[in-house]
Amino acid sequence: MPAAAALEPAVESRFASDVRSGLSRGGQKELPSTYLYDALGSALFDAITFLPEYGLTRADSRLLAAHSETIVTAMRGPFFVAELGSGSGAKTRWILEAAARMGPVKYFPIDISPVALQNCGFVLGRIPQVQVTELQGEYMDGLAKAVGYRKPGEKLLLLFLGSTIGNFYLDAASNFLMRIRAQLAPGDGLLLGADLVKPLQQMLTAYDDPTGVTAAFNLNMLGRINRELGANFNLARFAHEARFNADASCIEMHLRATCRQRIYIRALDLHIEMKEGETIWTESSQKFRVEEIDSLASQTGFRMHSRWIDADWAFAESLMIAS
Ligand code: AVI
Repeated sequence: MPAAAALEPAVESRFASDVRSGLSRGGQKELPSTYLYDALGSALFDAITFLPEYGLTRADSRLLAAHSETIVTAMRGPFFVAELGSGSGAKTRWILEAAARMGPVKYFPIDISPVALQNCGFVLGRIPQVQVTELQGEYMDGLAKAVGYRKPGEKLLLLFLGSTIGNFYLDAASNFLMRIRAQLAPGDGLLLGADLVKPLQQMLTAYDDPTGVTAAFNLNMLGRINRELGANFNLARFAHEARFNADASCIEMHLRATCRQRIYIRALDLHIEMKEGETIWTESSQKFRVEEIDSLASQTGFRMHSRWIDADWAFAESLMIAS
C-alpha cells in the first residue's frame, strides 16, 4: 500500500507535517534537507561524491587516510568509536584500521538509514579486530545508546564527518554540539569534518554540476512528496538553483517554479499555489572559516586539539577534546 494511502488524517507523519508547514506558509517556502535522503536521494548523494566538481568527500577521505594514526594516538589510552550519520562508513575505515593496530576496537555507527547501516556493518565489520554494533535511529538517541556501552576507563572518539554539521544553521550547529557535549565525558574526542569557504565559482559549481546530478538530488525532494504523499508536482516545471548567501556564508539549494502553478498533495488535502520564479528552499550548506570552528568548539565545551586542512580542497578535519 502506498504510504499516502496509509496516512490517517489525524496522525500525520513528521514528514507529512513538515511538508504541510513548509509549503503552506506565507513568504519563503521551505523543506528540511533531511528529507533529501530517501533511498533514491541517498543513491544520488553517493553519486555526487564522485563528481569532479564536488571535492568535499574526497578531501575528507584524504585527510583521514593521512592522519588517522595521529588521531587515534591523541586519544591516549583505551577508547571506542561511534559515528553520527555513518552512511556506508567508507571513510571510517582509515580510523578503524589505525585503531585496530593498537588492539581490539568497538565501533558504533549511528544512522537513520537501515540500508546504509547494514552496508557499513558488513564492510567495516570485516576489518580484523573491529567489532561493529549498528545503532539505527536519530543521532542523539544513538549516541545515548553508544555511551551506555562505555567500559570503566574507556574514552569515546566520536566521528561527525563529511561536513554534515554544515547542513545545520549556525545557531542550530552550536546547540547540537552542546547536546553532544552533554553526553560525553571530559577527555572524549570529537572529530569534526567541516567544509571551508573557497572561491565563489568553485562553491557554486560544486552544488550545480554540469552533469545535473545535484539537480536530480534536489528535484527528488518533490518526487518523494509525489511518491509518499500522493502529490502531483510536475518536476519538469521546477529548476534546480544553487546560490551563495554571503551574509550567512552558505550555499543554499532552491527549487524554482518555472511557471505559475497549482499543486495538490492528496495525503494532506492541501493545495499550493506557486508564482513563476518562486522558490522552495531545500538546503543550506555552511562554508566555515577556521575561526568559526574554533569558536564553535570553545562555546560548546570542547578544546581544540589539532586541525588538518586538505591542500587541494578547502576542508578541515578538527580533533576536539571534551573539556
Ligand atoms: C551531506 N552534506 C554535507 C552535503 C553538503 O555538501 O552540504 C549535501 C549536499 N548537497 C548538495 N550536494 C551535497
